[in-house]
Amino acid sequence: ETEAAIDALLGEMTLQEKIGQLTQLGTFDEETDGELIEEGMVGSLLGIRGADSANEIQRVAVEESRLGIPLLFADDVIHGYRSTFPIPLAEASSWNPELLEETAAIAAREASSDGINWILAPMVDIARDARWGRISEGAGEDPFLGSVVAAARVRGIQRNDWTDRPHIMACPKHFAAYGLAEGGRDYNTVDISETRMRETYFPPFQAALDAGAGTIMAAFNEVNGVPASGNRWLLKDVLQDEWNFQGFVVSDWESVDELVQHGYSADREQAGSAAVNAGMHMDMHSLIYHEHLANLVGKGEVSLEVIDDAVRRILRVKYRLGLFTHPYADNTLASTYMMNPTHLETAREMARQSIVLLKNEGQLLPIQPSVRKLAVIGPFAEDVEAQLGCWRGQGRPEDVVSVLAGIRKHAEAQQTEVVYAAGSGINSGDEAELARAVRLASESELAIVVLGESADMSGENNSRVSLDIPAPQMKLLKALHGTGVPVVLVLANGRPLTIEWANAHIPAIVNGWHLGVQAGPAIADVLFGAVNPSGKLPVTFPRHSGQVPIYYNAKKTGRPQMKRYADADVTPLFPFGYGLSYTSFSYDDLQVEQAAVKLGESVTVSARISNTGDRDGIEIVQLYICDVAASVTRPVKELKGFSRVELKAGESRTVTFTLGEKELGFVNGKHEFVVEPGKFMVWIGPSSAEGLEGSFEITG
Ligand code: IFM
Repeated sequence: ETEAAIDALLGEMTLQEKIGQLTQLGTFDEETDGELIEEGMVGSLLGIRGADSANEIQRVAVEESRLGIPLLFADDVIHGYRSTFPIPLAEASSWNPELLEETAAIAAREASSDGINWILAPMVDIARDARWGRISEGAGEDPFLGSVVAAARVRGIQRNDWTDRPHIMACPKHFAAYGLAEGGRDYNTVDISETRMRETYFPPFQAALDAGAGTIMAAFNEVNGVPASGNRWLLKDVLQDEWNFQGFVVSDWESVDELVQHGYSADREQAGSAAVNAGMHMDMHSLIYHEHLANLVGKGEVSLEVIDDAVRRILRVKYRLGLFTHPYADNTLASTYMMNPTHLETAREMARQSIVLLKNEGQLLPIQPSVRKLAVIGPFAEDVEAQLGCWRGQGRPEDVVSVLAGIRKHAEAQQTEVVYAAGSGINSGDEAELARAVRLASESELAIVVLGESADMSGENNSRVSLDIPAPQMKLLKALHGTGVPVVLVLANGRPLTIEWANAHIPAIVNGWHLGVQAGPAIADVLFGAVNPSGKLPVTFPRHSGQVPIYYNAKKTGRPQMKRYADADVTPLFPFGYGLSYTSFSYDDLQVEQAAVKLGESVTVSARISNTGDRDGIEIVQLYICDVAASVTRPVKELKGFSRVELKAGESRTVTFTLGEKELGFVNGKHEFVVEPGKFMVWIGPSSAEGLEGSFEITG
């Protein structure tokens, strides 16, 4: 039915109107762009916010353009709209797909009430180089966890639990391997084998599409010599022909034009031809399609079939969103939705679950009610901007509850005095302020010091050469340590940081990331023990910046015993999957149900997890495998399952995983997904570095 309607519409459209559908404007000038919309020359707008503004522009498209085709209103809603949630990397530390789905759904609901019907998220790029600023926007280093998170986010964005207004479409990005930029420098070259691309970088995209995403954004980077925005192998051969993708591909910001900068196309016209012929359906902001496609069709360089196919895909999405029947946003909802108390409660819960307890020597945490005086120190204790993180959307600093405010509230309830000093700037020191912080800490029983990165030290085009906490902050930390007063380090970070000195000297470390509007309450909930932390790292923390790229599922080498640096420990500081709790868990009774199975059969593996401490807690139980010998070498370990297990103090539970073809297979030398006979190792444990070990055999 939809396809018939599209056929009919296509039959009526002029070439210019068709090209209009392929054009997205990244900025909007009422006068000039209003006219373009009236002429049917625009298919989508980016960054229009407010239902009334969107509706007014939509009215021009629907009521004043010749064919009345509605517009797509796109926006970058990366971790919440107005109710800002933790940055995506932080959210991934929850390993909680239901909660990830919920925060994405809330973000979509708020965005929809502001006129948006197309969300340019989730970012599903695997990232293994923490220098790359955009590591903050994804789900970390692992394709299995990354796929679970990608699917959850798409389900949330597209939950569409309303019928009376446009639905929302997700746009997983950036296709593909953007996170592999050489040297961690944003937009940089990617040279990658097809096997690795298929095994590591494609799966989260496939998961996002399987979850129903109808659009995809191409990456800025080149892939093996061809920029992704003109890469026919990626956009056509894989996406359309192999995966049968029926939706449309949008370029990144002016990335069609950037084909010229890449040295792939000689001029803008050639760039337009290369992109559209490669399977790039919508041009974000460069206006190349608008300016050159008609001419290219005239010259026979671009066929009408290519144009029609792109238009059809875009119209399909517009039909799917219900835009032809419900083009307008409901302008009465924003005031109820934005910062709705239930949204804030979810923001607090997600922030709590995003926190990763890295160290807790002598059970310094949680803070005991007997503590009478606390010093809260550090440039990020009061900083609310940082907690909004990268891509803050409509998040406002005044909506954020700071760490200091969160701590004060809990402290007040137990009548603990709180004193505060910044102690240092983010990148600059001040001797008098440092001395004040040291004095306040010395007069207290405990010092909580909040250090790390500002929001603009991660995110797009914010790569760093060093993962260290900036020097003035380290000076402060060392001075506080020198007081002899116990210190708790709370990190405000958009990426893994190198904290080897802190780990050697500071008794308690809480990885707080950038946690959004409810950062302060969530951190205080954990510090004071109202919440028992359960987050696990979705990404490896190196000891030194020189170790990156570093990730747990590295390939084996011929000399594993000689894998070393001459000048430093080769192991990570904190491995993927790591995170502590205020209680303790033990693992025993690993059972591999079948010692041997035939190809095509599944293997069942279980272990008993016990809460051996005196507090209730949540453990994220992880299952890893290794295919011992294969026609293409395999990683030392690969995550293939996980489960969030809630256990009361003293309680035990057996957790069972099933390993089927999907978990046991890999991409072979012919780029086929296969399971090969042979021996497999299996581990169930609390992180990628620990676990009970078993094995099984797959027979031919
Ligand atoms: O969606 C983003 C993308 O992730 C980076 N470049 C700009 C786009 C639109 O804002």
